[in-house]
Amino acid sequence: MRMYDVIERKRNGGELSGEEIRFFVKGYVAGDVPDYQASALCMAIYFQGMTQRETVDLTRAMLASGDVIDLSSIPGIKVDKHSTGGVGDKTSLVVAPIVASLGVRVAKMSGRGLGYTGGTLDKLESIPGLSVSISRTRFERIVSEVGCAIIGQTGNLVPADKKLYALRDVTATVDSTPLIASSIMSKKIAAGSDRILLDVKCGSGAFMKTVDDAIALAREMVAIGEGMGRSTVALITDMGRPLGTCIGNALEVAEAVATLKGEGPRDLTDICVELAANMLFLAGLGTIEGCRGFARNQIDNGQGFHKLKEMVAAQGGDASLLDDAFGRLARPRASREVRATKSGYLYAMDTERCGLASVALGAGRATKDDTIDHSAGIVLSAKTGAVVEEGDVLATLYAANDRLLDEGEHALRAAFDIRAEQPRPVPLFLARVTIDGVGRAGA
Ligand code: URA
Repeated sequence: MRMYDVIERKRNGGELSGEEIRFFVKGYVAGDVPDYQASALCMAIYFQGMTQRETVDLTRAMLASGDVIDLSSIPGIKVDKHSTGGVGDKTSLVVAPIVASLGVRVAKMSGRGLGYTGGTLDKLESIPGLSVSISRTRFERIVSEVGCAIIGQTGNLVPADKKLYALRDVTATVDSTPLIASSIMSKKIAAGSDRILLDVKCGSGAFMKTVDDAIALAREMVAIGEGMGRSTVALITDMGRPLGTCIGNALEVAEAVATLKGEGPRDLTDICVELAANMLFLAGLGTIEGCRGFARNQIDNGQGFHKLKEMVAAQGGDASLLDDAFGRLARPRASREVRATKSGYLYAMDTERCGLASVALGAGRATKDDTIDHSAGIVLSAKTGAVVEEGDVLATLYAANDRLLDEGEHALRAAFDIRAEQPRPVPLFLARVTIDGVGRAGA
């Protein structure tokens, strides 16, 4: 078999066989297929797409490139949750403890923030002492005994994705539905959970800008999960505005804690309840409506917060700090209020720019080797749809010094669009995708 013929077939709109896909993935990981041929094939896939069968074969071939974690020693059903990434998305820190406090195990491997999106590992590391690099044995013990743990990737999971993602990142081929679907699902399946909930973000702060594109990606991923024996559900949720009011690592942990105590912002609370309910539903705890009630109850009775403290302590963190998380975790050196320069409606927020503003303040990384300032970030006082008067505080910025505040303010001002006209409300939940079909919000 020749790589040239595989590229040519896809370039011409043909369907690749499983054998051709395996030849490519194996050859690329082994170094037999050079970067220039792999990038040509990714670009051909970008333009021509893939059939569902091809995407499943690509996922299987990527999965076979490394280890697959066996969680069978942990009793009970293990449910994983994955977000396609966003700004202010701290839902894992709320949802994992809620679900675990109801007896469903969550063995979660998360990522770091890169570009304008945040990462759960960076958020957790703002808790002094907490480690996200723990051995597989200790991870499994914490999940068995506490019910949930969130760590960085261990072992050699999907090396094909590591290599291919780095290539896609520099060849303008990241935003291809079959490539994203196979990348995410190969990692989720390798991570070993029995059931998978996907939170596919949609809007100005997400890969998928339209609901139709987000649904197409969700359908692809649900079909892959189900095809590989893992019950999978996807929610399509709005990322046309940041989630909650806090952006930045320690601030987001503090907001997650507030949410678990029943004092969180409405949008974040609602989305966490919905995600938790769908995970509980996947674990077989009852109807979605019933599971929503269970999830809300774990916030009201404090069990979700208690579970987060148990998890933090088990991972070596100082859980006592969570009792006053805003006061004791986030201690920035400098702050500044950003005020409205005119009156009107906050018509839109460019969510990607909000994320970039937090990166400028020091909360994120422009390249993967940058260090981050855990206390830096943004607290929003107004979100899309709010009525603002000239001089009102729109946001408060936190950073290490005035120079970073200048950069953050410049970036954040570009994100706010204030107009006389009232924006059309956009629901937080846009659709739910299962193997049986798509339920659109309001349909
Ligand atoms: N996240 C991933 O893990 N892979 C992609 O291709 C895109 C987002």
